[in-house]
Amino acid sequence: MSLAKTQATLETLRNETLAKVAAVTDLNSLNQIRVEILGKKGPITEVLRGMKDLSAEDRPKVGSFANVIRDEITAAIEARKTDLEADALNEALAKETLDVTLPGAQVKQGTRHILTQTMEEIEDIFVGMGYQVVEGFEVESDHYNFERMNLPKNHPARDMQDTFYISDEILIRTHTSPVQARTMEKHDFSKGALRMISPGKVFRRDTDDATHSHQFHQIEGLVVDKNITMGDLKGTLEVVMKKMFGADRKIRLRPSYFPFTEPSVETDVSCFKCGGAGCNVCKYTGWIEILGAGMVHPDVLQMSGIDPEVYSGFAFGLGPDRVAMLRYGVNDIRYFYQNDLRFLEQFKGE
Ligand code: DAH
Repeated sequence: MSLAKTQATLETLRNETLAKVAAVTDLNSLNQIRVEILGKKGPITEVLRGMKDLSAEDRPKVGSFANVIRDEITAAIEARKTDLEADALNEALAKETLDVTLPGAQVKQGTRHILTQTMEEIEDIFVGMGYQVVEGFEVESDHYNFERMNLPKNHPARDMQDTFYISDEILIRTHTSPVQARTMEKHDFSKGALRMISPGKVFRRDTDDATHSHQFHQIEGLVVDKNITMGDLKGTLEVVMKKMFGADRKIRLRPSYFPFTEPSVETDVSCFKCGGAGCNVCKYTGWIEILGAGMVHPDVLQMSGIDPEVYSGFAFGLGPDRVAMLRYGVNDIRYFYQNDLRFLEQFKGE
């Protein structure tokens, strides 16, 4: 190829390439052009390879001309690349603009379960009166659940508290009362009176209906010291019921039976809805049965290593499920355990 013709070819190549580079609108296509024109298999390399056929005089001229053309094309590609990158950045910035004045997505806030709220409120009342809160075991032994509560094997009162057995001796507790025995046997009276409550889950072999659930809650209470009398029990319950259901409440004790207390009482509170006149909440009696209580049976003290000649105590067992049902007009205990948000969300707490 002659010098003139080679130069013309290169010039055409440059003009066409610069036009293509100017027209290209994305970085990929631009890169394709670079590879195609400047690459090892491209036309410029081909021209340089063909130089061996030129005369010694023309060779450097073609060489330097080809280099000039290549530099021009390279510079044009670089410049276009910078432009396209800037365009891409500006486009992304425009697209990803975020309006910080838009309201945020609402985070859905949960709430403590209404039974937890109820139990914590009751705990607060007792803690304020100097009681300690003790945790018991949901899986208990027959020994603590029954024997130590004065319910020996074959005692008829066991029938009311059938439960789920893990083995002959291990069961899931039917009441929170075993925590009484566990706490009494460890208590050091040189450090003062024993005053405790123990909230928690209990289990029974019950057929579930509106007022029975095979799992429910209790709050056990126990006070042991010298000279504890039934007057202390009555005064304590009265204060607690007033705090829970309103300052105008009265309480009434009726004789009852529990194997672990002697004497035993059933405690009623005057109806918080009608004040005692009679309404649907109190079933037109004016009174609501709220808990079982009594003076700790001497044998129960004795079995826990406490001398009943020196010490006496009172105990009570309260059902927070029932308290919550009465207070909030819940007519089916199963709502507490079904985890239906439509029910649970109604109790937002503070
Ligand atoms: N443990 C009894 C029950 O589950 C409730 C109870 C009654 C507890 C009287 C007591 C008490 O501490 O004195 O039915």
